[in-house]
Amino acid sequence: MRNLVVAIDGPAGAGKSTVAQLAAEKLAYTYIDTGAMYRAVAWKVLQQSATNITEELILSVVADIEVDLQYIDRKSIIFVDGIDVSGEIRTPEVTALVSQVAKIGAVREKLVALQRKMAQRGSVLMDGRDIATNVLPNADVKIFLTASIDERAARRWRQLQLNGYSVDMSELKQEIAARDKADSEREISPLVQAADAVLIDTTRLSIDQTVEAILNLCR
Ligand code: CDP
Ligand code: CDP
Repeated sequence: MRNLVVAIDGPAGAGKSTVAQLAAEKLAYTYIDTGAMYRAVAWKVLQQSATNITEELILSVVADIEVDLQYIDRKSIIFVDGIDVSGEIRTPEVTALVSQVAKIGAVREKLVALQRKMAQRGSVLMDGRDIATNVLPNADVKIFLTASIDERAARRWRQLQLNGYSVDMSELKQEIAARDKADSEREISPLVQAADAVLIDTTRLSIDQTVEAILNLCR
């Protein structure tokens, strides 16, 4: 298949990372997880201060942070200032902070520039919140992936359980709904379905069925 640029957006737990990674493997494309990049900035902010998080602190972190994303042994690895933080960016503390960091213009400017550079050569599948609307408006394929809040919370609960985190389901649902709201209502590049994106509701779709739907759109 010619070297397409594929943009996938959607709310938390819709299955974006999982299906984008699998589709990228089938197409022999590069998978770019932009959420990991915002998590990386939030991780570094927490390294500086766990309690007193101000906009000034976030701005000073983003001014000199070096974020790098690489695909090694079929895994997406994220580096902050040369350190592999792929595991540490998934903690509940980072998840709780990330939307606050992601709404700041200077953070988005720096990461979006990096994302556009990574997609320059094509043959990429990029997932996030503003890929089709802002990062890659000329993408060949645009997909908005979603699922009901109950299904997304159940998926995230199972995923956390597998990674050794036991969380309360109703709290998790609230956290996801709050993050969706923050991401959808922020001023800069909010989460919204692009007018020319194809909607895929994965509530009743398996991972394989969703990957197949994406590959069909690419074909
Ligand atoms: O995997 P999960 O859905 O929990 O989130 P993620 O994709 O890792 O993204 C974490 C957060 O980064 C989101 O809740 C957004 O606040 C932010 N984000 C963004 O603003 N723009 C993107 N393109 C990707 C993520
Ligand atoms: O990236 P995003 O937050 O959209 O979701 P994800 O991290 O790819 O998926 C969250 C969890 O849901 C993962 O553990 C997936 O294996 C699972 N999942 C699922 O059970 N069924 C699907 N159709 C898609 C994802």
